[in-house]
Amino acid sequence: MSIRQFAAVLAAGFVAVASAGAAMGGATDASGDTRQAATFTATQVAAGKTEYAAHCTDCHGPNLNDGEFGGPPLKGEAFRSKWFGQPASALIGFANTTMPPDSPGRLPLETYAEIVAYVLSENGVAPGTRALPADMEALDQLDIQAETAPGNAAQ
Ligand code: HEC
Repeated sequence: MSIRQFAAVLAAGFVAVASAGAAMGGATDASGDTRQAATFTATQVAAGKTEYAAHCTDCHGPNLNDGEFGGPPLKGEAFRSKWFGQPASALIGFANTTMPPDSPGRLPLETYAEIVAYVLSENGVAPGTRALPADMEALDQLDIQAETAPGNAAQ
């Protein structure tokens, strides 16, 4: 793919994200901080690691911060300050509508959820017993947080 084609693909991805964002605008929770922490299972992390290696590693790197072709780090302070505190739907929605850039949305939503579970675990979030759902409305109610929800591991 040429740089120009790659840029066009990315631009198309941005449009998709912008319109998805506008469509989701009505569902924004006006009452504030009622979201629960996003949780995921060790099974999802293991599956996500395999899927990441197959579809994302070329650009984002085998260690998530050593990619090529302009793929930014998916691990580290900059990534965390950008996505932690955001709804899980924002991160999974971004990945689902723009990644991989040559065929966004190629994978099932549950695969994006697994990859994001893996990415979060690499950013220091511990897995628990509640899976990250493959459902955008449910993901809208879950915040990405540094700690899993209290009691999650005990359930
Ligand atoms: C062809 C190279 C390429 C591949 C393959 C690729 N990405 Fe990306 N990715 C990029 C580029 C370039 C950006 C930055 C552009 C942007 O932010 O829109 C990016 C940005 C991202 C971001 C946002 C990072 C941030 O700091 O906000 C996430 C999340 C992401 N990619 C996930 C994935 C996942 C998951 C896969 C595999 C399914 C994947 N990417 C495959 C090139 C790639």
